[in-house]
Amino acid sequence: MAENDAAHLLLDHLPEVYRELAERIGHEALKRRLEKQALQESEQVWQGKNLLNPDRIPYFFETVEFLLKLSGIYDRGRRNFLDLKLVTNELSFKNLPEALDGLRILQLSDLHLDLEPELTPIILEHLEGLDYDLAVITGDYRDDTKGSITNCLTYVEQICAAIKKPVYGILGNHDPIELIPALESMGLPLLMNETVTFEKNGANLYLSGIDDPHYYEGHDFDKLRGTVPEGAFSILLSHAPETHKQAVELGYDFILAGHTHGGQICLPGRIVVIHNGDCPSYMLAENWQYKTVKGYTSRGSGGCRLPIRFFCPGEITIHVLRKENGH
Ligand SMILES: [Fe+2]
Repeated sequence: MAENDAAHLLLDHLPEVYRELAERIGHEALKRRLEKQALQESEQVWQGKNLLNPDRIPYFFETVEFLLKLSGIYDRGRRNFLDLKLVTNELSFKNLPEALDGLRILQLSDLHLDLEPELTPIILEHLEGLDYDLAVITGDYRDDTKGSITNCLTYVEQICAAIKKPVYGILGNHDPIELIPALESMGLPLLMNETVTFEKNGANLYLSGIDDPHYYEGHDFDKLRGTVPEGAFSILLSHAPETHKQAVELGYDFILAGHTHGGQICLPGRIVVIHNGDCPSYMLAENWQYKTVKGYTSRGSGGCRLPIRFFCPGEITIHVLRKENGH
């Protein structure tokens, strides 16, 4: 699909898009999300809840850009941004069916593809020849939280064409709900408080995904209740890791999240200073555990507002799931 087709699908058919979305997620949920989207567009709100969130600090990104350019290290940050790392993350679960031992899941997150056009070809290069059984994208397809909703589509389309199926996605706090039909027409089904089943070697994995819990608060765990059979191995896609308590309550085994970018601009040793996470600091990047649920917060492949990274490389992640205590 060409960029124009995707944009037309969005902009020329909005009444139908809204009708279909209302049927899918409910009128009230759609109304709430559209109201929050309108507030965001009006620039009357900050997205962040914690005080050290860059979204809450006036002229944060402009100041950082100015200072880094002044000090001559901005270009280094941009080179870091484009130097994506392929991360293989092997972890074990007691509850994993034997037949799923060794299952490989590709996770992409926080692509923000319209920020830096040079990032997409680099992601495509990494994807070529990668071995995985299932792919997920954990939200944030566009750069800004307002403005054009179609600029990212031409890049997302290239990523979707390169990813082996099955692939599932969720929306992040940068993603307006109107993106859904365009993304799904590219072969990326979005999980909006929905659960699907993935089967391999005769065993099932239950994969649930929620709408953005961070700003739009479209997550609805009541809709997920009962969609995973008691005791079955299950994974939750949640744009931000702040849903860990609900995930434990519903018995999920693994949360795949993003949102934080791992800090994006860190101090040596990957020390996060300023971040947008509404979660304990140990959940800001990579592996963590909260009670019975394991989690992984991707640093993301892209970043937002400024195409720079320091001491916090972007990543493409392959999770290798192992059966705990033997193979
Ligand atoms: Fe993001």
